[in-house]
Amino acid sequence: MITDLQSVISQMTLEEKAALCTGASAWSTTPVERLGVPEMIVSDGPHGVRRVPDVHSMALKSLPATCFPTASCLASTWDVDLLREMGNALAEECIALNVDVLLGPGANMKRSPLGGRNFEYFSEDPFLAGELAASLINGIQSRGVGTSLKHYAVNNQEFQRFSISAEVDERTLREIYLPAFEKAVKQAKPWTVMCSYNKINGVYGSEQHHLLTEILKEEWGFEGLVVSDWGAVHDRVAALKGGLDWEMPGPQDRRVRAVVEAVRSGQLDEALLDESVRRILRIVFKAKETPKGGAFDVDAHHELARKIAAEGMVLLKNDGLLPLKDHQHIAVIGHAAENAHFQGGGSSHINPTRVAMPFKELQARADNVELTYAEGYPTDNSFRQDMIDQAVTLAQSADVALLYIALPTFKESEGYDRTDLDLTDQQVALIKAVAKVQPRMVVVLNNGAPVAMSAWIDDVSAVLEGWMMGQAGGAAIADVLFGRVNPCGKLAETFPLKLADTPAYLNWPGGAGKVRYGEGLFIGYRYYDEKELPVLFPFGYGLSYTSFAYGNAKVSAKNFKDVNGLTVTVDVTNTGSVAGKEIVQVYVHDQKSALVRPEKELKGFAKVELQPGETKSVSIQLDFRAFAYYHPEYKQWITETGDFDLLIGASAADIRCRLTATLESTLCLPCILDMESTMREWMADPRGRQVLGALYEQIETQTRRTFGEAERYGNKKNGNEAAIGMDIMDMMVDMPVVSVLMFQQGALTMPAEEMVAGLLRQVHSTGA
Ligand code: BGC
Repeated sequence: MITDLQSVISQMTLEEKAALCTGASAWSTTPVERLGVPEMIVSDGPHGVRRVPDVHSMALKSLPATCFPTASCLASTWDVDLLREMGNALAEECIALNVDVLLGPGANMKRSPLGGRNFEYFSEDPFLAGELAASLINGIQSRGVGTSLKHYAVNNQEFQRFSISAEVDERTLREIYLPAFEKAVKQAKPWTVMCSYNKINGVYGSEQHHLLTEILKEEWGFEGLVVSDWGAVHDRVAALKGGLDWEMPGPQDRRVRAVVEAVRSGQLDEALLDESVRRILRIVFKAKETPKGGAFDVDAHHELARKIAAEGMVLLKNDGLLPLKDHQHIAVIGHAAENAHFQGGGSSHINPTRVAMPFKELQARADNVELTYAEGYPTDNSFRQDMIDQAVTLAQSADVALLYIALPTFKESEGYDRTDLDLTDQQVALIKAVAKVQPRMVVVLNNGAPVAMSAWIDDVSAVLEGWMMGQAGGAAIADVLFGRVNPCGKLAETFPLKLADTPAYLNWPGGAGKVRYGEGLFIGYRYYDEKELPVLFPFGYGLSYTSFAYGNAKVSAKNFKDVNGLTVTVDVTNTGSVAGKEIVQVYVHDQKSALVRPEKELKGFAKVELQPGETKSVSIQLDFRAFAYYHPEYKQWITETGDFDLLIGASAADIRCRLTATLESTLCLPCILDMESTMREWMADPRGRQVLGALYEQIETQTRRTFGEAERYGNKKNGNEAAIGMDIMDMMVDMPVVSVLMFQQGALTMPAEEMVAGLLRQVHSTGA
């Protein structure tokens, strides 16, 4: 059904248009019945459907739906096909539950492991997060259900999340905080994008003309509608001007009236309102093309949730105890074994269709094995020595101990940030006490973000990162422990040794209304690489029950043009005795660049399944953007001619093959020389060199004649040692040409400014 939107808009009254731009309820758009404009229903998101039965209620318990693993676990699968499949399943549930748009996925970066909502986000790396978000969106939307990519943008903490201003420079914005959104928008065209609550450089996410209009809509070509996060609008008219189409939740009569009055008084151009109306109508009518109702396959979706959880678990340590073999008695310790901790608190909280309890799932797989249970720790922050003593007694009499340790909700949830990386005191004491009596011990973690382990990791045999693994995760854990599934997940975020090592440590969480992103580009592994800091587990890391060898790495061309990109190929062999999956990662290192760049950046990956002894050739494409960086003065992505290293690795810290290729930049960059440009900048620009070259030589000769040269130059043209103990040219090259000329003013026939203005006229007329 193609609706003539223009004709609908032309028949709408100003009041109807303003009302359409604000929700009718907590979860729906405002219908215009007389014109056949239906209502559209949205629901959270992102790892399940939280369909509240009454659209007027924010708080009611939602209808049962599959709780899939949360984003930290999803990301550790590095599996774009699986995320697409999950997207299909989410869409089926939306259709069954009468939901038009699912509010997710989240594509914010994990700036600090303390971020309360990190469990809802994919990664510290924008490339990985973008690929995963795009797949999930494609999966959902391919079934005619919309998504809302959130929270756009730079929404990386819960502390003062409604008001704080994230102070971030444009390059960092473009290279770190926006690319996951950009990739998802360009590759998957989400129907809606949700703005962030916070301010970005002083302007609310809901009023951000730069982000919403200039970048999202104009540069990236986003055709959908921008919705506010719930309660993120402060000034409805300013938000419309910024590019925010739809305010939620509703109803908000005062806001509607404000829009009407702003148009009547001429403060708001009606054409701007019409544009938002058009965007909303387009999505509302599109949503109605998918008939709703029916049922979804509860069993099949639970099974899919199990499969995804199993792929996302990361085996962090294994001294050989896993997979579990012929043990007669297993002591199962920890509240989370009987009470699965499979999701986080807040808006993403799903009412699951069922829950696989870890202890029961062990029982179902362990024939002729005695399984005993001790709770081990309370769910609050109290310290209970009796619970530890009981667990120790149990562990002592067993062949092996499994400790299910969940980071409690009071330490991690939407709404507040973590204050440390630690488990509770009781949990740490429990692990240490059990390890003393039972060295054959596995710690299974359920958490949404890294925890510190230095206090106990050396005492235990194995650690499995089970994440907030969704409703079927209990079964997935049992499968991995018993070797029915060979773990293959790899970390999508670094596990630091300690909080003080983390990139945002000195600038977290901010205060007085601002949080300064002082670490700039250097978040996650980009930071640890640069600082040469040891970490607990690096980005991209994860163990398997088999091993993999890499070899025969090749690059499609030794010399290539940026626009053509490259293909990297490597052979991966399963050198162990069980089938397994390996996640191959390609990082790019620019050998030389005008502006500082991270040591290496992930630009491609592939997941490959291999039988024992099998070899497969893996090819990974690298495009223009794999080599480019955002130059804030050129205001565009640029490449520089030169050598790039292509690092093929099993993790960010385990590079197996290195290749080098030479890039030829095809860009013709505009000339950005101005009154403040230094001599070095003039000489680095080919047009600048042509114009300044002769004068530069004169200045150099004159300077050396006047001041002499420092001895290290050895070549004393006038026999004098440097008059001021240094070679003054070393300093002068980084002075603006105009300032250098000021010092020569006596020898000049015109003022220095006029002279540079003349040079600038010449340089800008040379075709730039
Ligand atoms: C959250 C969003 C969520 C919305 C609706 C907000 O508080 O930040 O992620 O989609 O509520 O529940």
